[in-house]
Amino acid sequence: MAAPCSARRALRQRRKPDLSIAPELRLLFTRQQISRRVAELGRQITADFAGEPVILVGVLKGAAIFLGDLAREIELDATFDFISVTSYADRRKSSGEVKLLKDVDQSMEDRNVILVEDILDTGLTLAYLKKMLVARRPRRFKVAALLDKISCRQQPIQADYTGFEIPNEFVVGYGMDYAERYRNLPDICVLKQ
Ligand code: IMP
Repeated sequence: MAAPCSARRALRQRRKPDLSIAPELRLLFTRQQISRRVAELGRQITADFAGEPVILVGVLKGAAIFLGDLAREIELDATFDFISVTSYADRRKSSGEVKLLKDVDQSMEDRNVILVEDILDTGLTLAYLKKMLVARRPRRFKVAALLDKISCRQQPIQADYTGFEIPNEFVVGYGMDYAERYRNLPDICVLKQ
């Protein structure tokens, strides 16, 4: 027997809690805004690489969802790899140190590499990863960052493809966390102080 309407609604709500209305969060970008922007970035990348294969290198864990969506908007032969570096852990401030936790599995030599980052903040992580990956002599090296906190930059470095510029606020959702929480929020929210 089918569950009554109110029970089905309750089940749906339990499956997908709407954390964006949690009191500690403020909505910044909706899933629709994100999806439109990611599609635009995908079209740009498709045009820039004009039929050539690309390898998307995602920076774990924050960029995993962005990479998954971006990859499906790129109409090219695209493969994936992942890299992991020290993150903010459960703090909101960068330690200023970057440490490699997991390297890519494949050779980058003579490949079209697109490094996929969730947020460009001080730029320390990207500067470290760019230096390391460019030394492996890729054919082309580009960076896609979903968010850019441009006012926080400490390194003279930019992404080639940027989703949105944002102010200096701590954000969560769409893969991004605070102490490992909120990654599964479909929207991007500011975590209030
Ligand atoms: P950067 O080295 O300072 O540029 O920091 C980049 C990394 O810090 C990002 O890839 C994120 O993992 C993390 N990060 C920076 N700002 C935020 C934020 O607002 N929310 C969640 N993670 C952040």
